[in-house]
Amino acid sequence: MSESESARILIDTRRVISEISPLLFSGFAEHLGRCIYEGIYDPASPQADDSGLRKDVLAALRELNYRSMRYPGGNFVSGYRWEDGIGPTNQRPARRELAWQSIESNHFGTDEFLHFCRAIDSEPMLAVNLGTATIQDAANLVEYCNAPTGSQYADLRAANGSEVPYGVKYWCLGNEMDGPWQIGHLGAAEYGKKAREAAKLMRLHDDSIELALCGSSSSKMPTYPEWDRISLELCWEHVAYHSMHYYADNLADDTPSYLSLSAAFEDYVDTVAAVLRYVKAKNRSKHDVYLSWDEWNVWYKAREHADRRAGWTEAPHLLEEVYNLEDALVVAQWLNVFLRRADVLKIACIAQIVNVIAPILTRNESLLKQTIYYPLLMFSRMASGESLDLLVESPRYETKQFGDMPLLDVSSAYDEAAGKNAIFIVNRSLTERMPIEIHWGDVQPKRISSAHQLSGGNPKAFNSWEDPNRLTTQAIYAPKIIDGMAQMSLPPLSFTALGVEL
Ligand code: AHR
Repeated sequence: MSESESARILIDTRRVISEISPLLFSGFAEHLGRCIYEGIYDPASPQADDSGLRKDVLAALRELNYRSMRYPGGNFVSGYRWEDGIGPTNQRPARRELAWQSIESNHFGTDEFLHFCRAIDSEPMLAVNLGTATIQDAANLVEYCNAPTGSQYADLRAANGSEVPYGVKYWCLGNEMDGPWQIGHLGAAEYGKKAREAAKLMRLHDDSIELALCGSSSSKMPTYPEWDRISLELCWEHVAYHSMHYYADNLADDTPSYLSLSAAFEDYVDTVAAVLRYVKAKNRSKHDVYLSWDEWNVWYKAREHADRRAGWTEAPHLLEEVYNLEDALVVAQWLNVFLRRADVLKIACIAQIVNVIAPILTRNESLLKQTIYYPLLMFSRMASGESLDLLVESPRYETKQFGDMPLLDVSSAYDEAAGKNAIFIVNRSLTERMPIEIHWGDVQPKRISSAHQLSGGNPKAFNSWEDPNRLTTQAIYAPKIIDGMAQMSLPPLSFTALGVEL
């Protein structure tokens, strides 16, 4: 391979983009399919602990270290009556759940979720129903969770076993209210007014809470980005975050373009960030609103829910996407984008966490880690401190969707206090190894202390119950740093995570 086909990554720890918000490594759990029932909560399973939570799932979720957890939906929340899900389990009503057309037993509700969050050391992020429910219902839920005892809903919480308020800090004002499929769908101005009034009431109960407004449910919506502008103009001073949702697909089976999707993710962030700046200026505000990418993932193979008819059963098998190597490389790039745009992105929740479009699947007593588990694990463990603006000189390739693109997609984190630097690299090439040089400009690192890689020859390869470890991150030989420079060769279709001791 000639010199022109090699790449260089230049790191300068003074070129800081922003602090990395730990909440960028968050998850989302919805009452949908087998996410809650048979996923998180399965009292009948031999894996269940005393409170019915699956111990194998808890262990995997702890390993991924989700900093915050969004719940209970998703489309589900827009028809949810939260009071169904509290109190003695045997007195809770079973309901026909309309968003996914299944039967909801309500055996898992707000208290169980908050207990679950404690069990995995994750900050809860509760969504309120702005579809069928009122702003009063939203305020009552804040009272139930956060008010000291001495009033109706706080006393109800105490009677249900939690004398001390939960102190839920993060709240979502509905879900995908721009979508015609959403129960109680609203226009941007109607939604903006309802969200603003809900926010006022919720914050009158507890002004320390931080609210996320519904943004467009994807950059492909016909109302995008006007929806974002109008709703933000109405709610600007009341909210801390504006949400983004996006599900990636390779329906065209065009892997070169699919592997360059980070260009679309970055474009989406930049557009919504521009709307934030515009509204801040238009509203003559000193307040800042940040982005919460609170649904993101690959999702296109398991679309059997499309007619939303799950057949009125409990915990149906829905959206059980199987993830292959190319999906994992897209997920790794998404995480790279979170670091590169850490100045505006403060929360990101992978949708979802168990069984439903998720990194882990459950079956009877066993658990399967899918390919996308591994990049999540690497970032969650290693991306701390501040993100760095890198100079990446990479050979390029041609894509149908994005034109000429670099073969490498890279991000880096610098944790000064811990004396660590992390580098995350995707080699998008389907066929070629990529020799790379990494140069540190302003620091003399001691050594590369860890090197892990996920790679394989077949972009469509996946882990299965029969072959669960076909694709995992492998520890690889850590290259030596000589005179502030390290050299290595990256295999095609690979994700590499390097930990550097400074
Ligand atoms: O995560 C699955 C669904 O995707 C969610 O319920 C909804 O918000 C989105 O359309």
